Amino acid sequence: MDVRLEWSGKQQWQASAAPIGLFRPGSNVKVNPQPGTLISGDNLLAMEALLPSHTGAFTLIYLDPPFFTNKDWHLAGTDNSKAYTDTWDTGLAGYLQWLYQRLSVARLLLAPTGTLYLHLNWQAVHHARLILDEVFGSDNFQNELIWCHREAINSRKRWNRKHDTILMYSRTGDFYFNPDAVLQPYSETTIKKFRHSDEKGPYRLMGRGITDSPLRSKRDISPEMEAKFPGLTYRHYMGKGTLPVDWLVIDIENQASVLRTGYPTQKPEALLEKILLASSKEGDLVADFCCGSGTTLAVAHRLRRKWFGCDFGEAAINIASQRLLNAGADCQVLVPFISG
Ligand SMILES: C[S@@+](CC[C@H](N)C(=O)[O-])C[C@H]1O[C@@H](n2cnc3c(N)ncnc32)[C@H](O)[C@@H]1O
Repeated sequence: MDVRLEWSGKQQWQASAAPIGLFRPGSNVKVNPQPGTLISGDNLLAMEALLPSHTGAFTLIYLDPPFFTNKDWHLAGTDNSKAYTDTWDTGLAGYLQWLYQRLSVARLLLAPTGTLYLHLNWQAVHHARLILDEVFGSDNFQNELIWCHREAINSRKRWNRKHDTILMYSRTGDFYFNPDAVLQPYSETTIKKFRHSDEKGPYRLMGRGITDSPLRSKRDISPEMEAKFPGLTYRHYMGKGTLPVDWLVIDIENQASVLRTGYPTQKPEALLEKILLASSKEGDLVADFCCGSGTTLAVAHRLRRKWFGCDFGEAAINIASQRLLNAGADCQVLVPFISG
């Protein structure tokens, strides 16, 4: 059965009647969008401006939009300067419409092998899941990643809310995913099981699954048995780690982190590193159209991905561009306008 989420004022995205272009701030000369661009403005306009040149071009789009928190977010260490607003005069319906339009255009920008990650939390992720099912098709829902973090555990009223949810949707069934780039370290218990070692590294001694063998599928047999029955045993070498699971325990960039920018809701580089390593390769094009302090873009630069970023807020663009320049990235700031 086809399931759809409804809200008042729901409308499908329609391309703007007039073409949108990208311009240098203060100039009326249209610029061809190139990777390494931070777009300062509304992300719907930014994505529309990229459509003529970049439809189907992005391997990865990560979106970390306002979460429908219904509050303003301020920059740390300032006189309460506002970083961005997450209040919605039109309520949840207005928020969902905002999301629906952006997710619809983001899908068009994705390559056939591309993936979208939408980062939200308990406040709107369940609504977003249904919107994404509609926009991408429920068959393309690949993962619900849980990012667990632990800071300021102080509620006695209910379970402390210490995870975010990141929904992963592929553009098609044939999407890029590299588990080997995000293997997770073995636990101490597992490492201890690899008691033996040779020139190829640590290993366990196992019995082959041979019918009627006295060692059939036995684990951790002795070296004496290996010497006695070499044909019935094998050395199981320790790999580089275990395959990744859909929950990640990663600290926020707390007061002690040198990567902390003071931008509220800044996400940890370690989280974005996992996402970029798993779902893109060197040289691929990635985007973050709610880039805030530029976390995704800084990680993309470090991992040699090409990138586009966008944010509505002046503080975000300033912090992100400075962060990218400090990292040695070439970065130009452009603004989207109707160019008809
Ligand atoms: C949760 S924050 C992103 C934080 C970011 N991931 C980081 O690590 O710093 C959401 C961002 O979305 C931006 N935003 C909200 N509405 C926007 C819009 N219409 N167009 C572009 N950016 C928008 C806000 O300015 C804010 O920086």
